[in-house]
Amino acid sequence: MRGGTARDPGRRTDGAIVAKFAELLGTPLLPWQRMVADVAGELDPDTGTYFYDTVILSTPRQCGKSTLVDAIDTRNSQWGPDRYIYYLAQTGKDAADHFKKYLKTIQASPLAAITARPYLGAGDLRQPFANGSVIMPKSVTKVAGHGVQGDKITLDEAFSLSEEAGNTILDGFMPTMATRLKATGVQPQLWITSTEGTAESTFFNQRLDACRAGEQSRRTCWFDFGLPADADPEDLDAIMRHHPAAGLLWDKRQLADFRDQFKGNPAGWARAFGNRRDEGITDRVIDETLWTATLAPPVSPAGLGSRPVAFGVAVDVDATHTSISAGIVGDGGIVTTQLVCILDGTGGAPAEILRLCGKYDAPLAIDTRGTSADLADRLLHMGDDAPVLCDMSAGDYLTVGQAYVSGLANGTVCHAADPDLDASAASSARTWSGDAWRVTRRGSTGLTSPLESCMLAAWGAAHMPDKPGPLQIY
Ligand SMILES: Nc1ncnc2c1ncn2[C@@H]1O[C@H](COP(=O)(O)OP(=O)(O)O)[C@@H](O)[C@H]1O
Ligand SMILES: [Mg+2]
Repeated sequence: MRGGTARDPGRRTDGAIVAKFAELLGTPLLPWQRMVADVAGELDPDTGTYFYDTVILSTPRQCGKSTLVDAIDTRNSQWGPDRYIYYLAQTGKDAADHFKKYLKTIQASPLAAITARPYLGAGDLRQPFANGSVIMPKSVTKVAGHGVQGDKITLDEAFSLSEEAGNTILDGFMPTMATRLKATGVQPQLWITSTEGTAESTFFNQRLDACRAGEQSRRTCWFDFGLPADADPEDLDAIMRHHPAAGLLWDKRQLADFRDQFKGNPAGWARAFGNRRDEGITDRVIDETLWTATLAPPVSPAGLGSRPVAFGVAVDVDATHTSISAGIVGDGGIVTTQLVCILDGTGGAPAEILRLCGKYDAPLAIDTRGTSADLADRLLHMGDDAPVLCDMSAGDYLTVGQAYVSGLANGTVCHAADPDLDASAASSARTWSGDAWRVTRRGSTGLTSPLESCMLAAWGAAHMPDKPGPLQIY
């Protein structure tokens, strides 16, 4: 553990009872889950109920966090009659997806005997128990504004909350805790569980940072699992050593597969499996709201028809990858940019570029300086085979990014859905020089070429070279 609350052996704990429920649910507690259950379940010798009113738990993904919450919630439902337990997640779908799995598990377990028939309504999922207690999943957005009153609430994946959104939920819950304690004799608990987020995770970051600084209330216990600051997230052995579910829920071979899912997104990987906060780029080239608002459906080659196409090509720093994107001119001159491929290195790029430009009779936009200079040079020296280049001066290149962002903002450019392109947009930062900016390759946290190639493709589509007319003979 990177930090957290140690077990106070002077207090009794409810952890063993949680462990029993977990066994009955078919997910016997892993050692780290048991440790958390033991500490969070410590009983105040003065009152006989929970010592802690708040539990803050930060772990990497694929750890068994949500599964631990299920075991604790099930146990919590049995402290007495008519208890209200909420499981809150980012969206209603996140909450419902997780909860449906839980319903299946509990209904197939011996604990089905203490449940009543679950509600499966669209907006009204819940598991009532024979004693009148009930566990309910909700979306954060649904309850924000009303607040939640109950005996236990969990904010799962709280990294998604802004300080404000998180606080509206707590504003409803906190004041009722004392009342519920009096009425039930059981201390209500708030659980805030999450993998580390980004600089925008203001609600979770503030709470976790307070714990790390030792400023948490004495009624808060906390647990922080993940890669220590000096370890390398690309070192899979280091991940295996520090991820508390490694070797228990999955093995090193599967870890390599997980890593592959984060291709081009090293910061996302470090966050998910190292539980490293993604301090990320503070100056994203295209902010997330604009990016999401300008999604378009992909265009298939068959659906192209006679629409003009230009290709854009960009190369990552150190020539690690080459991205090719298409800019497709549609109705009203609106340009759809679409990532076509990301190639390793630059070696195979000329052949693929020639093939695409030839097949679609399309010109090419490429920067003849910078990281793609060498590739551009190779293309230019192909003689008669060389692709038709969009005429672009060095000055033009500086405006390509700005033109793309303005195009997105004013609705003349959109981008076809693509996870690699999303990752590139999320990790591409910009550098300013005077009033102009360009994508900064070294200051970005992932591949910039997918996004840059789209910028070039859009520029190319808007600056199609004149087609040479029929040969004139005098
Ligand atoms: N104690 C356990 N025993 C067996 N399987 C478990 C246990 N805890 C978690 N799992 C399984 O591991 C996977 C990841 O667990 P989950 O709770 O979703 O992790 P997290 O919320 O940390 O991402 C799930 O398929 C879950 O069923
Ligand atoms: Mg989870």
